[in-house]
Amino acid sequence: MKKQALITGASQGIGYEFAKLFAADKYDLVLVARDEARLGEVARELGRLYGVKAKVLSKDLALPGAAREIFDELEREEINVSALVNNAGFGVQGAFVEVALERHRALMEVNMNALVELTRLFLPQMLAQGEGRILNVASTAAFQPGPFAALYYASKAFVYSFSCALAEELTGSGVTVTTLCPGMTRSQFHARAGLKRADGLLMMDADAVAKIGYRALMRGKPIVIAGWLNKVGASVAKALPTPWTAKVAGRLNSAVRK
Ligand SMILES: NC(=O)c1ccc[n+]([C@@H]2O[C@H](COP(=O)([O-])OP(=O)(O)OC[C@H]3O[C@@H](n4cnc5c(N)ncnc54)[C@H](OP(=O)(O)O)[C@@H]3O)[C@@H](O)[C@H]2O)c1
Repeated sequence: MKKQALITGASQGIGYEFAKLFAADKYDLVLVARDEARLGEVARELGRLYGVKAKVLSKDLALPGAAREIFDELEREEINVSALVNNAGFGVQGAFVEVALERHRALMEVNMNALVELTRLFLPQMLAQGEGRILNVASTAAFQPGPFAALYYASKAFVYSFSCALAEELTGSGVTVTTLCPGMTRSQFHARAGLKRADGLLMMDADAVAKIGYRALMRGKPIVIAGWLNKVGASVAKALPTPWTAKVAGRLNSAVRK
């Protein structure tokens, strides 16, 4: 039987690059995001290039219950997911009090709740089979507080802590959990978060970031930070007092606001 990989946020950016890597390894795919037309294009492209089947599931993960709908639909079709990539996510820039509560709620649903729910729903099948791979996309934002993007940074700290703990809990079960921490990556992420176009030394391409995550996932590594400059940055952030790193991150975040 062919292996199946479920990837959230597969319509573009890092998630699309993950879809290509799984397809090249002959996984059939379940592609999740909101943009159904774009997901259809991705499914056709990867089917043509790699001869894999790709199922499109257009879902808004900000809506409570979306994870359960995905699970139920795949269960009905007897699609057994052996790799789960929780990649969908977005950022919100601005003073906490100025951002609408509804926007904060959507961020928590997509970046944290959907990731936890999908993991909880698909994990029992993986454990029953004695194998499975889960990749959760955090960020180098996990390593310090981020004033003017406070909830985004906090959501990534949550993903990092939750995923690392789960990786340890599952030791010896055959199921691995890998946390990928990208730094700044070229994609639609910054424009969508209301940030100025950023570029420079720290910026990585989405395909390079996905390759780093994919390799770590296939090796069952618990944590991977993308790129050596980001590794250095993360070590410095972890070593310094938290109020200092919050101050620096706040200054940087103010500077990149549109
Ligand atoms: N780019 C960076 O600098 C950077 C750095 C660190 C971490 N990350 C993380 O990497 C992950 C991927 O980001 P990216 O850079 O590839 O950004 P991106 O190009 O904006 O892609 C985000 C993906 O998530 C999907 N998505 C967003 N909201 C969704 C929702 N409500 N329901 C379902 N799908 C949704 C989008 O699809 P639709 O719009 O079609 O729904 C899209 O496929 C995110 O978790 C992000 O936090 C990014």
